[in-house]
Amino acid sequence: MLQEKGYQVDVYPKDEVISQRKLIRVLKKGTYDAVLCLLTDRITGAVLDATPSVKMYANYATGFDNIDLRAARDRGVTVANSPADFSAEAVAEHTIALMLALAARIVEADDFVRRGKYKGWGPMIFIGTDLLGKTLGIVGAGRIGARVAHYCKGLGMNIIYTDMKQNQQIEQSCGATYCASIEELLQKADVVSLHVPALDSTTHLINDARFALMKPSAFLINTARGPVVEERALERSLKNKTIAGAALDVFEFEPKVSSVLKKMPTVILTPHIASASDTARNQMAEIAAANIIDFFEGRQPRNSVTL
Ligand code: GLV
Repeated sequence: MLQEKGYQVDVYPKDEVISQRKLIRVLKKGTYDAVLCLLTDRITGAVLDATPSVKMYANYATGFDNIDLRAARDRGVTVANSPADFSAEAVAEHTIALMLALAARIVEADDFVRRGKYKGWGPMIFIGTDLLGKTLGIVGAGRIGARVAHYCKGLGMNIIYTDMKQNQQIEQSCGATYCASIEELLQKADVVSLHVPALDSTTHLINDARFALMKPSAFLINTARGPVVEERALERSLKNKTIAGAALDVFEFEPKVSSVLKKMPTVILTPHIASASDTARNQMAEIAAANIIDFFEGRQPRNSVTL
């Protein structure tokens, strides 16, 4: 799309996470007008200062916590994200996959078979949990949370949610009930699914005190951002059986994954791939490019987050 518009496009050739120093070095090689960056590229004040020609950063992700927005605004640099409908869909579907995998103990059972431990059908092996009639607690009822609510309604779950504001749409379509506090939600939910952005106010939203409120039979699913859950507190609550299990697609110290969690059979871990569907990735690329084109054609980028 960008080349068709006549822009000269340089693509970083390696498939790797780029360190801050390297990012500055690479960006300084050209006098770029715009940068299409990934969520692993930390766009800090130092990067902005090192690249004064860059007028806009188009993030190839819905989340934009990798970009220092205040520093960008201070320097008059425009930032856009790429909230593709299909990424919301992919993340919601991944959340459901994790929920069913936790409830039916799919990963543990798969490992059991692969290790040659399956010697015959047994009435008591891998007893799981039904989701029918259970309560799903959604933390953050935006585009993704609302889709998760929709699918879980289909599974016969009761939906409760918390958010800064009420979402009439999921109340009407899924019979979802609003909880005025996260504490109330955590006490009632059998499955807690996180769908909030990474903000100062959501850092360690789930900590020791909050785990203590959850049911010992509850599952926690995080497909949002790692720092929303205090990982050490999660380790403690799984060890002490304060909760029953967890599924994480994102990690507090990404890409580092806790060695304690890796050893726990009641935990499912995926490598930040919730939005990795073919359709989502294509749509994200198109949106990121469209934001750059908007900017250079004198329009407000459709997904500007620096307004
Ligand atoms: C993925 O994590 C995204 O924010 O798009």
